Amino acid sequence: MEPISVGIIGTGWCGEIRAVAAGNSALVGSLHLAEINEERLSEVAAQTGAVTATTDWEELVADSGIQAMIISATPETLHYPMAKAALEAGKHVLLEKPISIKLEEADELIRIAEANNLKFTIGYSQRFNPKQALVKRSLNDGTLGDPVSVLVSRHITRSLGAKIGSRTKLSPAAMEATHDIDFSLWCLEPRLPVRVYSQVAWGARQDQGVPDTQVIVITMDDGVTVTIGAGWSLPPGYPNFSTTWIEFLGTEGALIMDASHKDIVLNTIKDGVQFPLSTMPGEYVDHVYAGPMERETIHFFEAVAYDRPVMVEPRLARLTMEVYLAADLSVETGQVVELPVPVDESQPSLLSVITS
Ligand SMILES: NC(=O)c1ccc[n+]([C@@H]2O[C@H](COP(=O)([O-])OP(=O)(O)OC[C@H]3O[C@@H](n4cnc5c(N)ncnc54)[C@H](O)[C@@H]3O)[C@@H](O)[C@H]2O)c1
Repeated sequence: MEPISVGIIGTGWCGEIRAVAAGNSALVGSLHLAEINEERLSEVAAQTGAVTATTDWEELVADSGIQAMIISATPETLHYPMAKAALEAGKHVLLEKPISIKLEEADELIRIAEANNLKFTIGYSQRFNPKQALVKRSLNDGTLGDPVSVLVSRHITRSLGAKIGSRTKLSPAAMEATHDIDFSLWCLEPRLPVRVYSQVAWGARQDQGVPDTQVIVITMDDGVTVTIGAGWSLPPGYPNFSTTWIEFLGTEGALIMDASHKDIVLNTIKDGVQFPLSTMPGEYVDHVYAGPMERETIHFFEAVAYDRPVMVEPRLARLTMEVYLAADLSVETGQVVELPVPVDESQPSLLSVITS
């Protein structure tokens, strides 16, 4: 196995995690970074031993020595043009979610990746959470019997919600519940979603023009139901605190997963009670990583270096996108939305539309 050459565009929160994973991995021979914030670029380049550090992402795309790119830049409208350029240049791509803003853009990216025989995968990191992997295994090996219903509740803090909302007007379905839609569709394969109904509820974030929570009910083609509640208005419990509860019910058993991060409590005079290690992507604790994103990043390097399949196929990321677009359409119309959503009716359901 030859070590691979990796480029990362955007070294903010997630890009830094991925860059540190690359810097630590023997699978990666050389690391190249692009970031428009020069201070941040120097900081992450110094931390990871990157051989290239540029403010112009197109320089990385033009570098024929780079085999694999990770695209972690925001706003999310950058995902499509950056991924398209990288795939057209013949590079394998790990793209943070969402895959794109419109379904036709996702279709185009998938077409280019397939035509060029490239690995193309989307950052649905929760598949690398061992508790969620256990659900998938328990379905595959028959422990749970036939699936009956899925219930997911996910919340993040209003400060993180405000960060996300400052750069894009995508809904809680597109930005938060998207992880749980991906997870549920993955577990329930080969079933397909046929119907979606969704409602939003307004509260503490109303003055920013976004609802606090979104509830989505998905019906699969054999009648299995998936209910997801996702919100981004919790008070802080830790920087980027997240809490999740999953109930997977089958005919032979149930798996109930508590990822509410109440297992570690830090109590200080300065900040009161906090719940460390409670972010969605996870974080480094000196020499170890707590959370799914490091493993997901290494998995991508392994897929490229050893020519293995990627865990998150873009086909399913596209289906996930179709479901959250249907959810947003359901909010706008107050109606149940049947799938598939025709591509020309699937414009991004921006919250500006919901609020108007
Ligand atoms: N999988 C997960 O658990 C998870 C968690 C959080 C965010 N995300 C996704 O990851 C992506 C990144 O989120 P984040 O929180 O790290 O964002 P962030 O804002 O912290 O970082 C994005 C970085 O991109 C840089 N950037 C912007 N334009 C650029 C350009 N033209 N060239 C190079 N760099 C550019 C910004 O300066 C910033 O440093 C988002 O798409 C988000 O949806 C995934």
